[in-house]
Amino acid sequence: MKNFENKTIIITGAAMGLGLATAKELASRGANLSLVDYNEQALQEAKKEILTQSPGADILTVVTDVSNEEAVKHYVAETVKAFGRIDGLYNNAGIEGKQAPITEYDVTIFKKVIDINLMGVYYGMRYVIPVMQKQQYGRIVNVASVGGIRGVLNQMPYVASKHAVSGMTKNAALEYGRDGIISNAIAPGAILTPMVAEAFKQVNPADPAAAEKEYAQHNPTKRLGLPVEVAKVVAFLLSEDASYLNGQTIAIDGGESNIYGNV
Ligand SMILES: NC(=O)c1ccc[n+]([C@@H]2O[C@H](COP(=O)([O-])OP(=O)(O)OC[C@H]3O[C@@H](n4cnc5c(N)ncnc54)[C@H](O)[C@@H]3O)[C@@H](O)[C@H]2O)c1
Repeated sequence: MKNFENKTIIITGAAMGLGLATAKELASRGANLSLVDYNEQALQEAKKEILTQSPGADILTVVTDVSNEEAVKHYVAETVKAFGRIDGLYNNAGIEGKQAPITEYDVTIFKKVIDINLMGVYYGMRYVIPVMQKQQYGRIVNVASVGGIRGVLNQMPYVASKHAVSGMTKNAALEYGRDGIISNAIAPGAILTPMVAEAFKQVNPADPAAAEKEYAQHNPTKRLGLPVEVAKVVAFLLSEDASYLNGQTIAIDGGESNIYGNV
């Protein structure tokens, strides 16, 4: 299905994990991609990987720290220069921070999580929306988390930032729906990416695989999600088909956030 031909999509945090999986999915559907990440080497490797799978794909890479406002203005300007328009923004770059109880949380790390996960998402919308307004068309998908609809032990700044992402998405939906700009958020559960592998190492440094197995037991599907399972939902939300779904936070978690009691 080539439903992204002549569409330009920006993906932040595109070098690995959920960003890369969505980049591959959209490239296979014909999208022009503007890939943003602060890990330059991983970003170049990601581009190669996408081109191996979709040889004709038109791909721009912009090395950017999304918590830097000037750098965000730059990736938006570079995208417009290369492709002339921006049809979709997948505001995906984010970090987990360290796991610690509230009273022991390192304040510097707390602020860093907020700067990347909250301000990075805000800056992206702040500078992409005017381009979409001129077009009277746009799709924004912000990445929250189940931690954006529930509390998560020892991850206060992450939970705060992801609740904020869900709230900011509602505001974008109601402020710019009239301009043909549709904004939604996704709330992934535990999806097997480098970020989640790192989290299992923190939970059980001696045996991360045991931590993963134990975690999966609490999910109705008894497994973790795969990045491609998130990418398929994001592709829908970034497509023309998602024209009346606005301001929602969609959990992609195998049903885990619905549990009350044991499964
Ligand atoms: N994997 C999951 O289970 C899961 C669950 C819920 C939410 N999420 C969210 O999904 C998003 C992607 O997570 P992932 O698991 O793919 O993570 P990941 O660590 O595998 O990949 C994140 C990518 O973002 C980039 N990045 C991080 N900070 C950046 C910054 N300041 N500027 C530019 N690039 C930056 C990294 O270099 C990396 O390429 C994050 O927002 C995360 O909070 C993931």
